[in-house]
Amino acid sequence: MNRPLRVAIIDDDAGMIQVLEKHLVKIGYEVETFLDPLEATDAVTHGSFSIVITDICMPGLSGLDLLKDIRENSPYTTVICITAFGSVSSAVEAMHAGAYDYISKPFNLSEFSLVVNKAAERYTLHREVEQLRDQLQQKYSMSNIIGKSPGMVRIFETINRVARSRTNALIVGRSGTGKELVARAIHFNGDRAARPFVAVNCGAIPEDLMESELFGHVRGAFTGAVVDTTGLFRAAEGGTLFLDEIGDMPFPMQAKLLRVIEDHQVRPVGSTERIGIDVRLICATNKKLDVAVERGEFREDLLYRINVITISIPELRERQEDIPLLVEYFLHKYAEQMGRSIPAVPRETMDILLRYPWPGNVRELENVMERSLLMCDNATIEPGDLPLAIRHYEPALDLQSIENARLSILDLENKYVAHVLKKTGGDVEEAADILGISVDAVKARIMEAQLDDGLIPWSKP
Ligand SMILES: Nc1ncnc2c1ncn2[C@@H]1O[C@H](COP(=O)(O)OP(=O)(O)OP(=O)(O)O)[C@@H](O)[C@H]1O
Ligand SMILES: [Mg+2]
Repeated sequence: MNRPLRVAIIDDDAGMIQVLEKHLVKIGYEVETFLDPLEATDAVTHGSFSIVITDICMPGLSGLDLLKDIRENSPYTTVICITAFGSVSSAVEAMHAGAYDYISKPFNLSEFSLVVNKAAERYTLHREVEQLRDQLQQKYSMSNIIGKSPGMVRIFETINRVARSRTNALIVGRSGTGKELVARAIHFNGDRAARPFVAVNCGAIPEDLMESELFGHVRGAFTGAVVDTTGLFRAAEGGTLFLDEIGDMPFPMQAKLLRVIEDHQVRPVGSTERIGIDVRLICATNKKLDVAVERGEFREDLLYRINVITISIPELRERQEDIPLLVEYFLHKYAEQMGRSIPAVPRETMDILLRYPWPGNVRELENVMERSLLMCDNATIEPGDLPLAIRHYEPALDLQSIENARLSILDLENKYVAHVLKKTGGDVEEAADILGISVDAVKARIMEAQLDDGLIPWSKP
């Protein structure tokens, strides 16, 4: 505990208060006491105390009413009630009204410490969760989605617009394009930010468990259902449910999801009761759902319900202008984590990064930058610090791209010679055989056009 937690004691018994105060101060708390519950109301309902210990039976205002006020105005304050000897019903009532614990008179001080320390632990835990949530919020705020390409700028605008509404949204994009990042940005930039963001991967839940995972179940609904569960929809109450890989949702389940979206109600497995929900749905997919609809694998009516707004994230290779920004961003991020300075990226290295088609999109670029940072031992990231597959990547040559690149016959020949050499692992005789020219001609070409790239030891100057 860094700072002592603040505790309020409210009791109309002055002698009792004195004993408890003295004891709590001794075990490290900061304490304020109130004899009159009405006087305490303002102070304790405005969150300035971590723990409130209140007698239930007091003149003027009952501890239960005070408890309700605290619950409404200061949800993180942990409340402990003191109940009269043998009054089980008021203890039960207090717990129902949201007390964390109760202690019955008469009690001894070690019992009392135990209850207060437990409450303190819970309070601290809650605070930590809150802090973590704040950090997450920072992490996923819009500024952490990097991009200046027109496609990304449009996405930022859409995120802002969707965040302010409660419309369902569908995010489509290939693997690693940032679908989950966008979903979180929508949530954390909207007015539901303080409520939960729950992410589920529909492809990862076995088909027969999906209904109970999403909607919950009641005890005894099936073998193994030993307790009631709430399910992910209700876990996201007031917030956002992110259904990732929605295209993998089994067909029968799609009908049930549609019903939930239309009725704003879920029915836990095994229950006859429907429970109202207020949840914003964001779905993501890397499949073409319209094609899935044509094939009869995805319900058209469900598609219309989830794609009220569609955000389509372009592949990284289609927004090359974002690459230098992302490179800088990731180097920054990982250099900071590793506690080292940020290396420069010379032109040759950047050219390689710009040429590579990034099939794994931003995720792949992020991994490559992290790895290169580990590999590089000076102040710049040299081409040699990049993985071989990226350094040696050669775009497939079709006639159109040859023309686009304005390659001469000689360029083209050289590229082909380099390609064959790579395939033969630098075996010049075999290469000459494939190319239909003499070994000397191959060697001359290698020297002339510097085609070896370190592959053939004898060609080094
Ligand atoms: N525009 C971006 N700016 C910064 N980081 C990004 C961007 N896009 C993606 N990333 C990073 O790339 C990684 C992959 O992103 P994310 O998990 O959101 O992708 P995805 O589309 O959900 O992928 P998959 O389909 O494989 O689940 C994450 O570490 C994310 O932080
Ligand atoms: Mg994802």
